[in-house]
Amino acid sequence: MFFSNQSLYICVNYKIKINRKYNPFQAMKKLLFSIILICTISSFSMGLSQTGQLPDVFITVGTLNTDLVYKVSGRDGKLYQSYLGSKLLNTSTLSKVSIIPLYYGPPVAEHLAYATFGTDNLFEPAIRMTHNDGNPSLELKYVSHNIEKQDANVTITHILLKDPEYPVEVTLNIKAFSAEDVIEQWVEIVHKEAKPLTIYNYASSMLHFDASKYWLTQFHSKWGEEMKMKESELTSGIKIIDSKLGAWATMYQSPGFFLSLNEKSDENNGELIAGTLAWSGNFQLLFELDEKNSLRVISGINPFASEYTIQPGKPFKTPSFIFTFSNHGKGLASRNLHRWAANYGLMDGTKERLPLLNMWESTVYEFDEKRLTDIMDDTKKLGLELFLIDDGWFGNKYPRNNDSSGIGDWQVNTAKLPNGLGYQIKEANNRGIKFGIWIEPEMVNPRSELYKSHPDWILKLPNRPEHYFRNQLMLDLSNPKVQEFVFNVVDGMVTTNPGIAYIKWDCNRMMTNPYSVYLKDKQSHLYIDYVNGLYSVLDRIHQKYPHLPMMLCASGGGRVDYGALRYFTEFWASDNSEPLSRIYIQWGYSYFFPAISVCNHVTAWGKTSLKFKTDVAMMGNMGYDLRINKMTENDLKFSQNAVANYKRIRDVIWHGDLYRLISPYEEHRAVLMYVNSEKNKAVLFAYTLNSRLFETFNRVRLQGLDPDKTYKIQEINVPVDGAPSGPSESGKSYTGDYLMKIGLNVGSVSPVTSSVFEITE
Ligand code: GLA
Repeated sequence: MFFSNQSLYICVNYKIKINRKYNPFQAMKKLLFSIILICTISSFSMGLSQTGQLPDVFITVGTLNTDLVYKVSGRDGKLYQSYLGSKLLNTSTLSKVSIIPLYYGPPVAEHLAYATFGTDNLFEPAIRMTHNDGNPSLELKYVSHNIEKQDANVTITHILLKDPEYPVEVTLNIKAFSAEDVIEQWVEIVHKEAKPLTIYNYASSMLHFDASKYWLTQFHSKWGEEMKMKESELTSGIKIIDSKLGAWATMYQSPGFFLSLNEKSDENNGELIAGTLAWSGNFQLLFELDEKNSLRVISGINPFASEYTIQPGKPFKTPSFIFTFSNHGKGLASRNLHRWAANYGLMDGTKERLPLLNMWESTVYEFDEKRLTDIMDDTKKLGLELFLIDDGWFGNKYPRNNDSSGIGDWQVNTAKLPNGLGYQIKEANNRGIKFGIWIEPEMVNPRSELYKSHPDWILKLPNRPEHYFRNQLMLDLSNPKVQEFVFNVVDGMVTTNPGIAYIKWDCNRMMTNPYSVYLKDKQSHLYIDYVNGLYSVLDRIHQKYPHLPMMLCASGGGRVDYGALRYFTEFWASDNSEPLSRIYIQWGYSYFFPAISVCNHVTAWGKTSLKFKTDVAMMGNMGYDLRINKMTENDLKFSQNAVANYKRIRDVIWHGDLYRLISPYEEHRAVLMYVNSEKNKAVLFAYTLNSRLFETFNRVRLQGLDPDKTYKIQEINVPVDGAPSGPSESGKSYTGDYLMKIGLNVGSVSPVTSSVFEITE
């Protein structure tokens, strides 16, 4: 009997306490207390057994190597998280897990799958609301569940919960991607109360852990220094990572994290989850360590200033939380997420990208048709495949000649480009290259025609001065009319100029002035409705142009998340393209995002050699933003050769498995490699960041190869006038076994040097 088991545990627990304390008075007090408790529970238990205790029901959401198991408790009909971890041989063993009752507090130390507020939950809730009658509590009991098999790999489990007293339903949706070992969770809330109902907390996911220690790795950023990594132990209480920047979801904090259980994990060892929220707005990750050393992780939209009113019958859907469990360290977790991103998370993640030349850093706002066609010639000369016209091509009454005017007026500037975009596209195509264009359609400069004609479309506070950032304001994307306008900006441009083959979508400010004329008395909906408005525009664009490549940019990496990346093929990782900084930035992104999505350009930033810059840009989606016409003959030759090399190896970088071998956070160098799925081709990048006099570096053991295959090692990107920077081993052949057990000497000890090796069976 369930409750008899409980009684037994109280006795066991009680014995342990007596032995520890040796205090006869305390012990007597506890004994009496326990006897009373045992009697109470036993009689209650007998009552239940007469009426028939329902059995617990287990719901397993499984991937190839992971199980997430929920339990519908026969005792109270509520849904609990029973297990999350490596796949169990038999989930029925979970019915044997005993529940230890507490002396104080809730009756049992179980983990509510989606904890509510107001009844028996004593810690942070996943959901909180107020009913029409003012009752501030919610109780959720299991009603039913169904399993929707989308295909051989993807299954969605929908678990319906309901308040027994109020017409409120909450559905937990858990989507399992079996081969990728990734789980996606989101929640839908719907009610049938007479009047609208207000929700204050509405998490996408709540997960529980019982480990001895918890190590959180977080990623924090600022402009030019994105994705800095920091690991720390969680201590009792709450740790929150969040964003309140509205449109710039990730400028200061990233919604991606690692949570290592028991011990710190490294690349190949340790149990952990890697999780991230797919939401391009305010987010909150909350980690609460309770008095029993249990950890709850609540992820979702930031409830800050965002209470939301839901109309009867209209479901409220949260964004998705995406996570993977790994029992082999962070490396495996990243590879799982990369595979998931390629197949499901990123637009056209399994396809090709176009190496491009941007004109921005060579011209800024000053260009004419001749200047652009010259840059198109350079694009071709370098072997690149697309020319990108960045900022500065639009605005007539308020021409975009600097960053204080023109945004909002998306008409070609006739002084700079008298023959229009059509001419530019034709010129690019005549050279055998494609044409891409920059836009920033969510914004408006006060010096624009749009600002004058539609003041009610702009976010600004009544009775307050307008707060500018980069001389601009945000449009109100919660307003369907503004959504229509933004869609038409893109659609109009692409339909008039069907040769547009690429869009760079920028967003150069965070949201302040948070007041929408359209939302009237529902201002607290703004942060949420803005992002959903943005998604609805992006969704329409995606429906109409399903394979139009788009780069996501927000002053660099101010908006890098899987909510937006469904609609984008790639993102601009940082405005900072100085390669030493860039190694850390790209390293940080590599934990969550595959190399194919990370745009890295060779630019004039920094004082390192062109080779170093090129090698750094190559470990991702490579492009250029540089005055090619100012290059020396040798630099041009080197770059032409590097682009040719890149075209040969890019498939491995884009679609291969990433192994981070030496971290720049641990040594003065960074070494990583990509291996294709057939394990017959790999590429290794080695960077020496710094070194002391007489310092030596250890050999590096490779990973992910086939031990039985023999591989030829060839250094590439060798400077035209220089000797190979790598080891004498270049040109030799070794077995995968040798390379993975003995390893290679890679790279030079000289500071700021790099080498790239092509490894071929
Ligand atoms: C932002 C982007 C840059 C560039 C400029 C143009 O700063 O991050 O890449 O497009 O805008 O104004």
